[in-house]
Amino acid sequence: MKKILVTGGTGYIGSHTVIELIKLGYEVLVIDNLSNSKAEVIDIIESITAVRPHFEKIEMCDKAALANYFSKHSDIAAVIHFAGMLQVAESVENPLKYYHNNMFSTINLLECMVAYKIKNIVFSSSCTVYGNPTQLPVTETAPVQKAMSPYGNTKQMGEEILENVAKANDINVITLRYFNPIGAHESAKIGEIQHGVPHHLIPYITETAAGIRKQLNVFGGDYQTHDGTCVRDYIHVVDLAKAHIAAISRLLSHSNEAKLEVYNIGTGLGYSVLDIISAFEKATNIKINYQIVDRRPGDVEAVYADTTLAEQKLNWKTVLSIEDMMRSAWNWEQALAAKK
Ligand code: WQD
Repeated sequence: MKKILVTGGTGYIGSHTVIELIKLGYEVLVIDNLSNSKAEVIDIIESITAVRPHFEKIEMCDKAALANYFSKHSDIAAVIHFAGMLQVAESVENPLKYYHNNMFSTINLLECMVAYKIKNIVFSSSCTVYGNPTQLPVTETAPVQKAMSPYGNTKQMGEEILENVAKANDINVITLRYFNPIGAHESAKIGEIQHGVPHHLIPYITETAAGIRKQLNVFGGDYQTHDGTCVRDYIHVVDLAKAHIAAISRLLSHSNEAKLEVYNIGTGLGYSVLDIISAFEKATNIKINYQIVDRRPGDVEAVYADTTLAEQKLNWKTVLSIEDMMRSAWNWEQALAAKK
């Protein structure tokens, strides 16, 4: 069985990807510093798959600790690198924390990969690199625009570092630019954990539906979109996880056509905030109390993916609908409430 190392594997997207890897027979190693997740996710993954991935709590910014880990696991076929801080607003308040954590963890990882001759990496990037795209749907050749946050900048710098390292070393890279990951595993045993007031739309909607929040504020109703609210490409986290499987398979079969490949991972469909509220209400039969307020600074007006390249080269496309996304998000919220 090929060994895959998943950094940040107890996190939201990481844990869903670990499950899909195990289902396909890979041997999965997980490292995580547990700064934004809990080790009990490993127990939950085992309860879902009947397989327990090897887990070690590792601080990737600690080069010695990471090198020591690799000295014990040098037969890794590929790495999927999720580990990183991801709160846009927090990155604006504390840029150095984001640059230190996200860049040193990536650089340390790459230095270990070179040292231990590990040849394949799938990198978690984001559609934020496109900023406010001038053309929609956005393709991978769209210009990368000046990052709108230190978080977004760490993704852009991560992409550039990987591109340079791939050129200079025997390392193959697939960078996946995620659009808006939402929803949860059908078991409702894993999903996105919120710390305090949710920043993102979907958890705020589900907490409003659960009565935890009184009212959803819709940030802006005067954008140049079909209904004045921002448009995004929401993708089910399980479809997103499966895109990583497709990328790993492409690298391990040496099917990649370049040492660096970049793919948009989205549905190709744009939904506005009001569309999402309607979709949630339709899927759950729960009315969402909302009001339209001022725009949120830094928000992109509209962004959704051209998914042609991923469909052709990764032989991957999304299969889960916006109803599936809304229902799984609500099931997850209810599972969280039941645990309280
Ligand atoms: C979506 C829309 C808000 C909350 C973020 C990260 C990005 C990526 C995906 C990692 C926007 C509106 C939101 C609310 C609202 N993550 N909204 N009321 O900002 O598109 O992208 O997640 O790669 O890096 O920036 O997601 O869910 O915050 O916002 O009206 O209470 O919902 O204005 O239009 P975003 P989001």
